[in-house]
Amino acid sequence: MAVKLLCLGLLLAQLGPSRAKQQTCLTSASNCDECMQSGPECAWCTAPHSNVRCHTLKGLQRAGCRKRYTYNSQGGVQVVRNDSSSEPVSPEAVFLQPQEFSLRLRPGVRQSFPLTITMPTGQHTAELAMDTTPVPAGVNVTFISSVNGNLLVVQVNVEAARCPSESDDSSQMQNRTGPWSVHITPRGFSQSVKLEITLECQCDCTRNREENSLGCSGRGALVCGQCECNKPYFGQQCQRDTDLFFSSNEDACRSGPNAPVCNGRGKCVEGFCECENRVNPTERYTGQFCECSNFDCPYHNDRICGGHGRCECGDCLCDDDWTGEDCSCSMETASCMANNQKLCNDRGMCQCGICVCEPPYTGPTCEDCPVCQGPCQQHAECVECRAFGTGAKKDRCDQECGYLIVTMVETKQDVPQTTAFCKMRSRDDSCVFYYTFSNLPSEGRSTVVRTKECRPN
Ligand SMILES: *[C@@H]1O[C@H](CO)[C@@H](O)[C@H](O)[C@H]1NC(C)=O
Ligand SMILES: *[C@@H]1O[C@H](CO)[C@@H](O)[C@H](O)[C@H]1NC(C)=O
Ligand SMILES: *[C@@H]1O[C@H](CO)[C@@H](O)[C@H](O)[C@H]1NC(C)=O
Repeated sequence: MAVKLLCLGLLLAQLGPSRAKQQTCLTSASNCDECMQSGPECAWCTAPHSNVRCHTLKGLQRAGCRKRYTYNSQGGVQVVRNDSSSEPVSPEAVFLQPQEFSLRLRPGVRQSFPLTITMPTGQHTAELAMDTTPVPAGVNVTFISSVNGNLLVVQVNVEAARCPSESDDSSQMQNRTGPWSVHITPRGFSQSVKLEITLECQCDCTRNREENSLGCSGRGALVCGQCECNKPYFGQQCQRDTDLFFSSNEDACRSGPNAPVCNGRGKCVEGFCECENRVNPTERYTGQFCECSNFDCPYHNDRICGGHGRCECGDCLCDDDWTGEDCSCSMETASCMANNQKLCNDRGMCQCGICVCEPPYTGPTCEDCPVCQGPCQQHAECVECRAFGTGAKKDRCDQECGYLIVTMVETKQDVPQTTAFCKMRSRDDSCVFYYTFSNLPSEGRSTVVRTKECRPN
């Protein structure tokens, strides 16, 4: 089948200066209408709280706007009347089908639809010009036709360049966006097709205003996903109150009624403290009212927190094994360990790695006792009770003198390698006895001479 392409007719209406196609959408568009008009590729996100509203479909998708929240009307064509021919085609008339269309035109988006023209009997299908009644400024109607047997199929393209701007003549939107009726008539015939054209310059969603929407804190209308706040409220969800905001602005930055704004360490911006920077970049003020810092902490040895912790809001948080206000105190105890493997000889507390000895003991591990009695006197009563069962401790000997291991010998000469004897006068019998004493860490050893020296006074 031979298909001949015929250009039948061009239209008419002169069109506004053609605008360079915008490559980017007006991302700063303040509402859906403005966005849609910024370019045919632009879409609007109606999702609540969306940060990106106006972008290309892809851009919105990237920004996380779900499909169901994407508004991107492309306009459309509807067939209003499509009567079939019941009567035989008359010799002098063409038959047009469909007979009536309704068009919604989004500027920049072309609408196309076919028109079937049945020529009068006997007439050859030939070039046929199409006449159009005046179209609104900025609207372009063009035709491409092809022959299909005795039918002429005309593709009608309708496109609007742009929405009328506010400064256009007509003051009312109704006049500026239609609907307008346009009739298309094959030249030389009386039958015509009617187009009802409307410019889509307003987003559908603007008609679905939700007044006092909960999404707008009940203080504004939700329009196309955005809040239009009632006065004096503002904010993404109309959550803020201009009056309150400006009057209590500074007070919101005080920790107390008379406290300085941001503790004098920052400035109050929209009710929130912005703490000032320090010259030293590692030093920072923090906290709701800049009340904290990471450098106002105790120092030890010229180092903050002794170099063993970090400073948080005036307090040292010490590293493991360190304690104290300034983290100067080691919890390590090796330095407190005495030769007998007892911390501070059991005579003191190990604090910060240093023995704090109970009086009268002194020394690094509390081994010294300058004022203590010598070992002879110190252990004499235990030696006596252990060796002879007499003396001051005879009734408490087991409890108090268990540490003492006593070896009895008969005479002084039986004591091996003796340097010096201790000498003790027993209160019970006024006799003197001799013994040696050696002080080992965990026990005492004494060698006692059994033979007492008893001299009548
Ligand atoms: C109009 O009606 C004809 C049948 O008479 C049908 O073939 C055609 O698809 C219809 N066109 C439209 C656009 O509905
Ligand atoms: C109208 O259509 C003609 C022919 O296709 C084209 O050259 C012209 O640029 C169009 N004008 C507008 C404003 O779309
Ligand atoms: C706009 O349309 C209204 C009717 O819809 C009409 O009364 C008015 O005169 C029109 N204005 C202009 C400037 O055409």
